[in-house]
Amino acid sequence: MRFAQAGLKISLYTRFMFAITFILIFIVGSILLLVERREVRTIFEQSKVRGILKAQNIADLNLEGLKFWDSTGIQTNIDRELNDQLIYVVIFDRFRQLYVSAGLAGDAEDIKVSRLPVRVTENLSVDRRLDFTLNGRSVPLIEIEIPVFAGGSPEPDYWGSVKVGLSLEEIYSEIRRTRWMLILIGCSGFLLGLVGAGLLARRITGPMKTLVEGTRRISRGDFSQTIPLRSRDEIGGLARSFNEMTRDLLETRQRMEDANRKLIQAEKLASIGRISATIAHEIRNPLTSVKLNIQKLLENESLGEEEKEHLDISQEGIGLIEKFIKELLNFTRVSDLNLERFSIQQIIDESLKILRNIFQQKRIVLERSCPSDLPAVVVDGDKLRQVFLNILRNSVEAVDEGGKIALAVSLAKENSVKKIRIRISDNGCGIAEKDWENIFEPFFTTKPSGFGLGLSNARKIVEQHMGSIKVVKKKGKGTAFEIRIPCEVEP
Ligand SMILES: Nc1ncnc2c1ncn2[C@@H]1O[C@H](COP(=O)(O)OP(=O)(O)O)[C@@H](O)[C@H]1O
Ligand SMILES: [Mg+2]
Repeated sequence: MRFAQAGLKISLYTRFMFAITFILIFIVGSILLLVERREVRTIFEQSKVRGILKAQNIADLNLEGLKFWDSTGIQTNIDRELNDQLIYVVIFDRFRQLYVSAGLAGDAEDIKVSRLPVRVTENLSVDRRLDFTLNGRSVPLIEIEIPVFAGGSPEPDYWGSVKVGLSLEEIYSEIRRTRWMLILIGCSGFLLGLVGAGLLARRITGPMKTLVEGTRRISRGDFSQTIPLRSRDEIGGLARSFNEMTRDLLETRQRMEDANRKLIQAEKLASIGRISATIAHEIRNPLTSVKLNIQKLLENESLGEEEKEHLDISQEGIGLIEKFIKELLNFTRVSDLNLERFSIQQIIDESLKILRNIFQQKRIVLERSCPSDLPAVVVDGDKLRQVFLNILRNSVEAVDEGGKIALAVSLAKENSVKKIRIRISDNGCGIAEKDWENIFEPFFTTKPSGFGLGLSNARKIVEQHMGSIKVVKKKGKGTAFEIRIPCEVEP
């Protein structure tokens, strides 16, 4: 919303309101002007009709007097007729000479002349507006002159004319009142229009603002919020497409981050693999000879108890080093999947069987839930067992004596791909949220004698199966892992 040339920033709302104000002023102004003109014309027409009726009335009242030229009687009559409205009455004879008049000041020469045209018919009248000086005060009035027909037979002859001057003061004040009323109506209409336009503009520009805010947030890389627009109109549609776009962008970004992470992970694993192969090679041979020599020494009967104990400790140490090398090699070895049809239940059972002793020792309560109609999965059974073993072992290590471990299996559909969802949770010490991703890094461990390879190995295997593994939120203390594995793994 920028005036490019001027560099001036005027909001859409302001521009809209300016335009509406101009349009309203124009429309309301024109309507008021038209109505006012019509009103004023009608008021004048009415006063003219009233004037004609008044003049006719005076002529009718004095018809006898006119017939018999009784100027005194007529004078008395018309003097009586004068009031606030009727300012003057003038009667002319057929030669347009003044016959009788009432209410005229001596200087009103112009009024003392008849205005009727030479050819006079019954339904003829002339009128004009003028200012009349009454008792030193200027009074606006309308003057009407009508012809009078009296005497004659069978048709009355043209006798002369009657002219009346009617005050317009009251009519002018009525016009003023009408004008004020129209202005009031106009202003109310204008204000109502303005309020309506304001609301409409807000309804249009409000969502726009939200959209602009949303785009700004996205450009800053914040995809977390959607635009809360639920209207069914075009703006609602725009918001919907905007939200869809945000969702798509977020998904794409997550996919990219995931791909990036996998790439880094693969590189890391490759270099760990190379290093561990070298270490294994360099350590294993001398270690074997150390182990053999210790065994030989232990066979010597003349050794004292204390010396034997030292040798036992050394042997234990060597066992630990061997175990580490084995784990390391196992971790870095990338082998193809040996896919077979399995029931997931069976793989879980096998893992639990291996851990049965530790479960019993720690008196761990196991809760299991699994629907009976789960489809079979095509997976590498040995490798998947390794995954469950690694996770369950961690849970066993995390819980106190008598702790609880829950195992729930269900079916899920993700992008029309059927997946088995396995949730393994415990009420152990839990993992800080900041470490939810770190725990899958190789060598990340918080245990004094841990290698930090279990979860990293589990993720490697699950991802080989096109699945996913992550820590999820859980109620209460402890940790919950969620594993998703497609029922059919594409080789
Ligand atoms: N169920 C769990 N409860 C608490 N912490 C866990 C759990 N599972 C994993 N962890 C954390 O993740 C780390 C990495 O686990 P893992 O890769 O199996 O390595 P290790 O068990 O050798 O430490 C652990 O050291 C522990 O801090
Ligand atoms: Mg572990």
